[in-house]
Amino acid sequence: MSTTAPVLDLAQRPRRNRRTQALRAAVRETSLSAQHLVLPLFVQEGTDKKDAIGAMPGCYRLSIDHIVAISKEAYEVGVAGVALFPALDDTVKSRTGDESWNPEGLLQRCVRALKKELPELLVITDVALDPYSSDGHDGYVTDEGIIDNDITVPLLCKMAVAQAEAGADMVAPSDMMDGRIGAIRKALDERGFTQVAICSYCVKYASSFYGPFREALDSAPRAGDKKTYQMDPANRTEALREGADWLMVKPGLPYLDVILAVKQATALPIAAYHVSGEYAMLKAASAQGWLNYDSCLLESLLSLRRAGASIIFTYGAIDAARLLQDKTKAAYYQ
Ligand code: PBG
Repeated sequence: MSTTAPVLDLAQRPRRNRRTQALRAAVRETSLSAQHLVLPLFVQEGTDKKDAIGAMPGCYRLSIDHIVAISKEAYEVGVAGVALFPALDDTVKSRTGDESWNPEGLLQRCVRALKKELPELLVITDVALDPYSSDGHDGYVTDEGIIDNDITVPLLCKMAVAQAEAGADMVAPSDMMDGRIGAIRKALDERGFTQVAICSYCVKYASSFYGPFREALDSAPRAGDKKTYQMDPANRTEALREGADWLMVKPGLPYLDVILAVKQATALPIAAYHVSGEYAMLKAASAQGWLNYDSCLLESLLSLRRAGASIIFTYGAIDAARLLQDKTKAAYYQ
């Protein structure tokens, strides 16, 4: 090609702002760091137990000792916190999920162990009946097979209070019952837990991307589906505030438009959940050599930040935090 090719008469040349790394970094609109990330973890009974989860390579059901160890790792690379989900034996499950407010229950013991070892790491607990429910639903199932909203809300309040008593920094109702945020706030405040925050899953879709998570917890509904309480994927709605401190949108990448809509409708920080199926897709494609896991993970998380998420729940939190420790890599995200 001749260097004397004719120069196009262009009013704008956006490539000038992309020419060098320094120019690109100077005009970057979005950043991603470990402090934005929360690592979801699956806890199980026992000691030194670490069971692989088929559809989530690199994720395990862990006994409390391992949960503490991996949380230390997460803390050391700057991850903001962990979100805990218990995988319980069928023998402790019941229709009303009573195990969820047992002070000696698995989750409560796990929270206490974490707060003792890593007091500064955020500990976020899930509020929903499904891990404790013999029906595998997030709410109470009547004899007629209906998920009863108003019977469920007081059960969720008891669960949240038990988690706060164990030392949780934040409770995260993922159940999608109506009116539970206000009720949980009141229940926490009445017992003096005014400083325990609520991350409301205000926009949670009835999504097929939760499949691997349900395998991890063996928590798929025994009958029916979650469409009477989780949102229709065809809809976009505004978040209800109701006293929440963070608003969660879930899943993440298929719902970027919803993150943006919620961002525009509220002043509260938004959390996005990069869910099990999104993680599984990255792992599966990279295992085939079809995608690069590291760069696609960081790009996915950056996209969630660009859409408006302050915080991201992701199974790749430690992987991402480690990658961002590498100064040359981090230079593209900060
Ligand atoms: C249940 C709950 C689910 C997830 C978080 N909390 C699954 C469901 O609603 O069935 C999914 C998270 C993921 O897929 O990573 N309360």
